[in-house]
Order: sequence, then structure tokens, then C-alpha cells
Amino acid sequence: MSTRRVVITGLGLVTPLGVGVSTTWKNLLAGKSGLISTTTLPNYTKDGWDQIPSKVIGKVPEGSISEGKWNENDHFEKGELRRLALFSQYGLVATKEALDDSKLDYSNSNKQRIGVAVGSGIGSFHDMYDNAEGYSNGGYKKVQPLFVPKLLTNMAAGNISIKYGFQGPLHSVSTACATGLHAIGDAFNFIKNDYADVMVCGGTESSIHPLALAGFSRARSVTTEFNDIPEEASRPFDAARNGFVLGEGCGIVILETLEHALKRGLTEDDIYAEVKGYGLSGDAHHITAPLENGDGAYLSMKMAVERSGIEPNQVDYINAHATSTIIGDRAENNAINHLFNVSTSNSSSPPLSISGTKSSIGHLLGAAGAVESVFTIKSIKDSIIPPTLNLHDIGKHDDDDPSKFNVFDYVPNVAKSKNINYALCNSFGFGGVNSSICFSKFN
Ligand SMILES: *[C@@H]1O[C@H](CO)[C@@H](O)[C@H](O)[C@H]1NC(C)=O
Ligand SMILES: *[C@@H]1O[C@H](CO)[C@@H](O)[C@H](O)[C@H]1NC(C)=O
Ligand SMILES: *[C@@H]1O[C@H](CO)[C@@H](O)[C@H](O)[C@H]1NC(C)=O
Ligand SMILES: *[C@@H]1O[C@H](CO)[C@@H](O)[C@H](O)[C@H]1NC(C)=O
Repeated sequence: MSTRRVVITGLGLVTPLGVGVSTTWKNLLAGKSGLISTTTLPNYTKDGWDQIPSKVIGKVPEGSISEGKWNENDHFEKGELRRLALFSQYGLVATKEALDDSKLDYSNSNKQRIGVAVGSGIGSFHDMYDNAEGYSNGGYKKVQPLFVPKLLTNMAAGNISIKYGFQGPLHSVSTACATGLHAIGDAFNFIKNDYADVMVCGGTESSIHPLALAGFSRARSVTTEFNDIPEEASRPFDAARNGFVLGEGCGIVILETLEHALKRGLTEDDIYAEVKGYGLSGDAHHITAPLENGDGAYLSMKMAVERSGIEPNQVDYINAHATSTIIGDRAENNAINHLFNVSTSNSSSPPLSISGTKSSIGHLLGAAGAVESVFTIKSIKDSIIPPTLNLHDIGKHDDDDPSKFNVFDYVPNVAKSKNINYALCNSFGFGGVNSSICFSKFN
């Protein structure tokens, strides 16, 4: 296998906890929630939110960038805005933050060796809806010229490549809720295999739309039990968990070879972490429901650990996919038990820590794996693990097997300081997709 080492040198975020890595991270560690009720939206009745049984969403907060919030006019000119779907806007804003953070002097770099791999699960739901409505009411003339390019899931990647002139691999995976993690893993492979020296990678999503929430409600994927207390609606591994919360946002990561980073003068301090191993598999079972024993997730985690050249008991932390659904969290927990139980049940070593950060921001679909990778990377760098909020009765749902939940530390409700050498981030998607990446402390 290639000996090229791949490190992380820049991060960018747009999330329901704020715009920018520092705002989001501070709020996440403080146990804040980015979830709100749809009843607070300006056109609640007019847009039909009122008819949807699920009322909680994770929306990027609106306001000025100086307070770490979202206002499109802080980032784009009017003419530009008309041409950019919201998910592309999030992608461009998080990319700018990540590139600035990396201090990469891209105008004086070989741009054919810099690539972009940014995916989206759904693309522009809003453009799809508006044009369908326009066409249905007014026919051909009501279809916007930019309709097709704006809705394509790879357009955020295209926009990023055009804006910065990056001519390396231009890729965009779309594997539902595993998109963001697959994007980072695939970018890692492009660098490993010498297709590029630097990759801008991650996932972006902006599907907070009444039709999308109606669809997820019909599929019974989203929770309806906590409509009056939105901040308690997402509760991975808790007895009262009952479905996920639809969120939006973007996570971008700058990957490059260690050699490239050192050559341009970065020091150990500038490097966040190293990408060690990538694992991917399929449950081969059902489009939305997991295999009870968690086989797919077991395979992807095992592959990520093996390809990192380590033993399972060297993993200190897992940022779980944990969407807060009854069967999904249970299956993932079963898979983690399968791979880690025996090797970590050594009382002289601290237990494996697992946290479900969707408890704070909801499920960002195609952006989830990228945003959660940023959280995992920050955890390694800062030696602190963000909490699983609303976790009061661990694994006590009627269908849970409590013996499978008493082995690990689920970091309930309060962030926890811990030295992390190796951490996994998990992401799974509709269609039966399972994926994991192992990151490590850089030294
Ligand atoms: C609410 O509806 C009005 C009237 O259609 C529209 O102008 C406005 O942009 C809408 N606001 C939001 C936040 O969607
Ligand atoms: C971004 O993509 C849109 C089409 O979706 C295009 O009209 C626009 O010119 C692009 N902007 C940049 C900066 O690439
Ligand atoms: C593997 O991914 C599928 C698709 O999202 C998911 O239903 C299943 O829960 C995952 N496997 C485990 C064990 O979590
Ligand atoms: C338990 O962990 C300690 C410290 O990590 C190690 O020295 C010891 O060999 C382990 N014991 C077993 C039975 O694995």
C-alpha cells in the first residue's frame, strides 16, 4: 500500500449551532442545542408545516456572521446569490473557512494537484419544488434556466472548483446519509493513490423544506414525541429515543500529504490529525432498516481499524452515526459490541467512549458524516469529547438488551476531557450503506 501519509490541515463548518468551527465547537461542548420548533417559522401555516406531525428541525441560525450566524449577504453579492442553491452557498462558505484555516497559498500552488470531493445527499430540494410548482401552474415558461444546474448534487463541488481554479480530481459522491464520510474517505484514497496532493472534501445539505419533512414523516423516520421541547427531541441511545431530527449544514476538511504540509512550512501544531484508515460496506438487507446484529457497520468499522494497522482496543473514541432511531442506534451499538466488547473489557484500561452529536444538531443527511468528522478531529486535537445530550436512561428502551449498553462510556450530557490517540467516525445511509473512518493524533 502507498506510504503517503494524509493529514488534516483545515476545517470549515456551517451547522445548526452556528457558522464557523469555533462557534459550533464552543456551543457543542457547552451542551447547547441547535434544534428549534417549526412553529417559530414565519410562514408556518402558509407553507403547510402545520400539517406535518413532526415539528422539530435543526436549522442554521440566521443573523450576522459577527455573532456566528448565517446571513447570505455577508458572503455573496446579489447577482451571485441568484445563481447559487443554498447547499452550494454553505459549501462555498465552509470551504473558504477551511482554506483560510489551512493557510494554503493556493494561488501559488499547482492547482492541478488540488482536487475537490464535496457531495450532497439530495441537492437543491427548493429548486426542485419551485420549478415543479411553476411548471404545473404556468407550464414551460415558468421553468428557470438555472433549474437543472442548481439542483444537481455535485454543483457545490463544481462551484468550489470554479471559484478557486482547482483542476485536480473533481468528485461528488451521493450515498444518502453516508455522503459526507464517503467524500472524505474517497478524497483520502485520491491522495494516497497520488491523484492529488491536496483535497477539499466534505458534504453539504440544505433540505429543510416542508415537502422533505413531510416525506421523512411519512416514512416514520423522524420523531414526533418532543414537539414542545425541541432541544430534547434528539436523544441517541436513550430509552425515549423515537426517530431523528432533520437538520442542515456543511462540513469541509482540507486533506493533504504530510510531505506537502511540511514543505509549505506547517508545524505539528498546525496539523489537526491524520487520516489512518477508511472502511466501507453494505448491509445488503433492506433500504432503510438495519440488520439487527449490525453486520454492515461491524464490517466497515473493522475495515477502518484494520487498514489503520491497529487493534480495536487502541480506539479511544467513536463519534457514532446514532441518529436517535430505536432500531438504528441499537444495531450500531450491537456492531460496536461485536468489534470492541472483548478487547476493551479490560478493567485496567479506560472504557471506549462513544458519543452521538446528532443530539445537538439533528441529522444533517449528506453533510452529517463530514460535520461529525470535523467533531472527531477536533476531539483528538483538543482532547475533549462532545456530549450525547438527553441521555438519561442508557439502552433502556423495551427492545434494548441492557447488557450491551453497560460496557462503554456514552459521554452523557456533559463533555469529557480525554486523551485520544485513535478515533472512529461512523456514517450510514439509506440503501444499506455503512462507512467508517479512523483518525489519529498526529505525531
Ligand atoms: C413568507 O411568505 C412571504 C409571502 O409569500 C414571502 O415573501 C417570504 O419570503 C416568506 N418568508 C420565508 C422566510 O419563507
Ligand atoms: C455555481 O453554479 C451555478 C449553477 O448552479 C452557476 O450558475 C454559477 O455561475 C456557479 N458559480 C460559481 C462561482 O462557480
Ligand atoms: C448500516 O447502514 C444501514 C443503512 O443506513 C443502517 O440501516 C444500519 O443500521 C447500518 N448498520 C448498523 C449496524 O448500524
Ligand atoms: C489490560 O490492559 C493493560 C494496560 O493497557 C495491559 O498491560 C494488559 O496486558 C491488559 N490485559 C489483558 C488481559 O489484555
